[in-house]
Amino acid sequence: METGYSIDGVRERLGDMAASALAREEIVPALRATRDADPLAALIRLWWLGVPVSMAAADLPLQDLIETGLLVRLGDTVQATVHLQPWDAGAAGPAYVVSDRKVRPGDPSLRPDHVVGAGGASANLAQLGWAAPAGRALDLGTGCGVQVLHLAPRAGQVVATDVNRRALRLARLSWELSGVHGVEAREGSMYDPVDGERFDLVVSNPPFVIAPEARYTYRETGRHGDDFCRELVRRTPRHLAQGGHARFLANWLHVKGEDWQDRVGGWLTETGCDGWAVQRDVQDPAEYVELWLRDSAEHGTSAYRERYDEWLAWFESMDVTGVGFGWIALHDSGSLSPLVRVEELTQPVEPPAGALVEEVLRAARAAHELSDGDLLDARLRVADGVVEERVGPPGADDPSRIVLRQTRGARRTATVGTVEAALAGVCDGDLPTRPLLAAIAELTGEDPDAVLGRAPAALRPLVAEGFLSVASSAASPR
Ligand SMILES: C[S@@+](CC[C@H](N)C(=O)[O-])C[C@H]1O[C@@H](n2cnc3c(N)ncnc32)[C@H](O)[C@@H]1O
Repeated sequence: METGYSIDGVRERLGDMAASALAREEIVPALRATRDADPLAALIRLWWLGVPVSMAAADLPLQDLIETGLLVRLGDTVQATVHLQPWDAGAAGPAYVVSDRKVRPGDPSLRPDHVVGAGGASANLAQLGWAAPAGRALDLGTGCGVQVLHLAPRAGQVVATDVNRRALRLARLSWELSGVHGVEAREGSMYDPVDGERFDLVVSNPPFVIAPEARYTYRETGRHGDDFCRELVRRTPRHLAQGGHARFLANWLHVKGEDWQDRVGGWLTETGCDGWAVQRDVQDPAEYVELWLRDSAEHGTSAYRERYDEWLAWFESMDVTGVGFGWIALHDSGSLSPLVRVEELTQPVEPPAGALVEEVLRAARAAHELSDGDLLDARLRVADGVVEERVGPPGADDPSRIVLRQTRGARRTATVGTVEAALAGVCDGDLPTRPLLAAIAELTGEDPDAVLGRAPAALRPLVAEGFLSVASSAASPR
């Protein structure tokens, strides 16, 4: 399609202000910017903004599109029944995503089988799955089919499932328009359509919204609390090939008297896989309910207060204090001693997040497998981009706090003692940890045995979190 209807073409045609407004779902500036009925403006109005366009201005096979139901005729204008947006799938050619149009305040309410378009969450998941090897790949809950656009260029075979038949119909259109062929689309819930099958990569942006009832298939399932995400995680190992990976977006409950990390850690532990769960955001129940009532454009409707109240009461009945949003990564590492890591990372991480997942799992496994003796014998190396910050009163000889900060990757910080800071300053992979610590103890006047005794407990988290890596060691699995 040499029409200019691409991400760059639309942005250029709209200009920065209207394009930014459109990203906030505000269409008025874009309507103003496309008042001239040039061909690109007509396409933007028709497919993106969803307003009627005069048949004379739409340079398209109108009759065919009307017959397939993608356009409806209204007098001498046509209007699209779907939303068709250009998408950056990183592939060679242009990609398009077909979905239902996002509902805006004042629109008729959403249909229960609404097919949600590709957005920020879709892009996040696409990034997360980016580095994992994909021979046979599964997109569970494909919706508009966007994940498949990212998987197809590097997977030998892609299977996409959804419980919503309309979603599969629109997904097939997305793939066809994007030149993606050979995808197996299967209808059914969770892993039912792939019973007995295994995959090298499973990705899912599931219907994770935790709500008292299932009103919209694209986001809610009617399962109790966060059971859908838990079940998704729990059933995954039976569908991972040896060495396979899974990448999910998920929501989980924070419940009074329970540590959320224990809750999500429990999900991962049940799998027997290596697992990493990351909380990127947490909202209190009111914020959460508002977010999702706004998502379905119910703000200001007559039912708003009642729904809000019911949803909050339901949370209250389960002692819910908040809802976490984040990622879950699983790896069938084959280890008899799987590692599980659950943490909060709210800072922007270095893209692509998929490469980071691989790195984090590798570092956490390395730390997990090193005995205390191995750690002292290892030749450690400080990671690229780690900087040291010393905080203290102006003019003071000694800092009150020393922080190691990663400027790359997960961009974590760690508060460390003077010995670890000194070690980070000298460890370049040349000498083992033990003689380095002995030299540091001598310089700082500390008891060398005490320094060596404390070191493994202090160094293991720094290795697990990627501040230090093992250049070489006499490591043996613990
Ligand atoms: C949030 S949308 C994700 C769409 C798309 N994959 C993306 O990344 O943007 C969730 C999808 O899961 C589907 N879904 C809902 N319940 C499901 C179930 N029980 N089993 C499989 N898919 C389900 C919905 O129809 C919807 O298409």
